[in-house]
Amino acid sequence: ATLTGCDAGSESDPERRTSPEARLGLRFPERFGWGAATSAYQIEGAAKEDGRGESVWDTFSHTPGRVRNGDTGDTAADHYHRYLGDLDLMQELGLDTYRFSISWPRIQADGTGTPNQRGLDFYRRLVDGLHQRGIAPMATLFHWDLPQSLQDIGGWESRDVAYRFADYAEAVFAALGDTVPVWLTINEPKTVVQNGYLGGHHAPGLRDPAAAYLVAHHLQLAHGLAVQALRATGSDSRIGPALNLHPCYPADDSPGVEEATRLYDGYENRLYLDSIFKGAYPADVLADLGPDSRLAQGIRDGDLAIISAPVDLLAVQYYTPIYVTAGGGITRKWPTSVASWQQIFPEGMYDILTRVTRDYGDVPLTITENGLPTPDVLAADGTVDDPARIEFLRDHLAAVHRAIADGVPLESYHVWSLMDNFEWNEGYEQRWGLIYVDFPTQRRVLKRSAHWYRGVIADNAI
Ligand code: NOJ
Repeated sequence: ATLTGCDAGSESDPERRTSPEARLGLRFPERFGWGAATSAYQIEGAAKEDGRGESVWDTFSHTPGRVRNGDTGDTAADHYHRYLGDLDLMQELGLDTYRFSISWPRIQADGTGTPNQRGLDFYRRLVDGLHQRGIAPMATLFHWDLPQSLQDIGGWESRDVAYRFADYAEAVFAALGDTVPVWLTINEPKTVVQNGYLGGHHAPGLRDPAAAYLVAHHLQLAHGLAVQALRATGSDSRIGPALNLHPCYPADDSPGVEEATRLYDGYENRLYLDSIFKGAYPADVLADLGPDSRLAQGIRDGDLAIISAPVDLLAVQYYTPIYVTAGGGITRKWPTSVASWQQIFPEGMYDILTRVTRDYGDVPLTITENGLPTPDVLAADGTVDDPARIEFLRDHLAAVHRAIADGVPLESYHVWSLMDNFEWNEGYEQRWGLIYVDFPTQRRVLKRSAHWYRGVIADNAI
């Protein structure tokens, strides 16, 4: 991509110090895609409508003590009913691309069998509405809402669930097929492993380290099977994984810290990247888990060939760096956001993008998530002032721009999130949206950051 400067703003511009909107003068490549992202359980609501079955997140959020304030996704942002208005807001922002997810239990209430036409119809209407507005749909097949019936037979610990996922994917491809140009398989398998099976603060709420890495394998297997399923349809649409990658840095220069950081990186990044792009799990992670681990025992002949089925693109989600100590613990170096796990470090965006390109070749990249939660309030004058989000996005986009200039084949960028939504175990308190949602009334208000982002899109520049 050729990048040119643009004349607006400069380092010495005095306005730059006072206004987060002031331009840095960085223009993006001609056909760069500007987007925003959401996921089904976090925005749709309508939990019992049109034949939708229950997911593990319905169970989890309805279990007392699991989610802050007892919040659930029963209504969420009511997007299932308000999608037309939401499409109009996307158009108002000028989005080129919109990333959403398909709710498996809307398509197969019990995770298996004949697909539910009413569920498919909803996504068909959404996709049609995007096309009518000139917005490219990007659909994630799995964003954590596993049908509860499949959890009841073992969830991702069960190899069979990977095959159920392939059947579900096949049904979705058959119905929506070529209307979706880009498919993403599994959203952040690592988060399911770490939060669902290690920390236990996400569904299914387990703390079972032995199971966790077998779950990782089955999620990777499910990814590969879905890639194969799309290829089998002869579709021209593209498909890839959506991985949250964390650049890992040594916390200091004490003895052993480099080795500890490398192993930590294995668990955070290479476990998922190497299996897909190199057809092998990283040797250091396998050795660390040991030959008797459920992961080692669960890998069958041919699995890695399935997992490493060639993909068309890699979707990267970047939020935070990780600083590793010699003892293998982690520490913080930068200010955190209202999400305690997030340190604000835009350089990490540059580092992870260039590293992926260096280590895994020139697979096209898209950023499918990047964003900041802020304690937004709707003011009496009807505005929502979130300058910190603008600064965060601007600084991360500057890092993105630099990565592109250095040869990273990045085609698009999606802010997490289009609108405030159900932030999993944090409920509705953490607001990540460009668009403010007043949950009691479901009124939508474009935040200051949304107005800024609209300008960025219009100018193709920050
Ligand atoms: C990653 C997840 O994919 C998304 O669902 C979540 O809301 C954001 N991170 C923010 O935590």
